[in-house]
Amino acid sequence: MQTIRQLKPLRKAIAGLRADGGKVAFVPTMGALHVGHMALVAEARKRAPHVVASIFVNPKQFGPNEDLAAYPRRAAKDSAMLSEAGVSVLWMPEVEVMYPTGHATNVSVAGVSEGLDGAARAGHFDGVATVVAKLFNQVRPDIALFGEKDFQQLAVIRRMVADLDFGIEIVGVPTEREEDGLALSSRNVYLSEEERVQARSLPRALGAAAATIEGGGDVAEALAKAEASLLEGGFQSVDYVALCDAATLQPVTALTAPARLLAAARIGKARLIDNVAVTPRDETRKGPLAR
Ligand code: PAJ
Repeated sequence: MQTIRQLKPLRKAIAGLRADGGKVAFVPTMGALHVGHMALVAEARKRAPHVVASIFVNPKQFGPNEDLAAYPRRAAKDSAMLSEAGVSVLWMPEVEVMYPTGHATNVSVAGVSEGLDGAARAGHFDGVATVVAKLFNQVRPDIALFGEKDFQQLAVIRRMVADLDFGIEIVGVPTEREEDGLALSSRNVYLSEEERVQARSLPRALGAAAATIEGGGDVAEALAKAEASLLEGGFQSVDYVALCDAATLQPVTALTAPARLLAAARIGKARLIDNVAVTPRDETRKGPLAR
């Protein structure tokens, strides 16, 4: 695996990979890698002979009171994991390489960026869209992989790629979870032992609410119950629990099309997010002859 920190050698390395005519798949990350990130790499390996990964803790997507300084950085371990997993090129630019003095262009995706985490974290998705647009132009992959763990981010990237004609295939990869259901996240390291146990109430609350809604239960009641069980389960505050259309992320009050149940809540120093699919019952079972 080649580790590259400047743009010119990156272009050269990628031209080298492309020499055999094989596709390039790209996995962007902020490092502190775990099994969730490695699932993206494994899926990338299945889809293309060449995999490029990036590690860049993007200052533009952190708010002024967020955890940029504290964000875990483990370059040596990350690099060993990526190399072991068959990544050909690791792109690891410094902040000055990504945003040289004078950088003035921002990418802002309206609509899908605005609710949920976009409302709770002002400017976050502009930071994500800007850096991902730059990473796409730097690496110029055929395919790029993103986790469903960050479901709104995935929707923002899909919208941006369609709107700006990037011509890159975007692949969403299901969320990797711990045995008790907690979604793997680089931010789980902020949890104390007690908080780590309490954090399992997040996937549990989402699972229970999704089952209620899929079973025809009242949406508003299910969302309120999920929020209450997060607070009872040890979370200090809940940013949102919302049922949204799976494609547009607009809030929905009834289950008529594939939907997503999304939540963000704070526990100790961590702000955790998670989401699950909520699927309408099979249309064929809804008819008058249904049993
Ligand atoms: P980061 O949080 O490092 O995540 C990198 C990728 O790993 C994202 O696509 C994320 O959705 C995915 N991922 C994280 N946890 C996962 C899990 N438990 N299961 C499956 N996939 C998981 O997301 C970012 O970095 C940044 O915003 C980035 C896109 C790199 C732009 O800076």
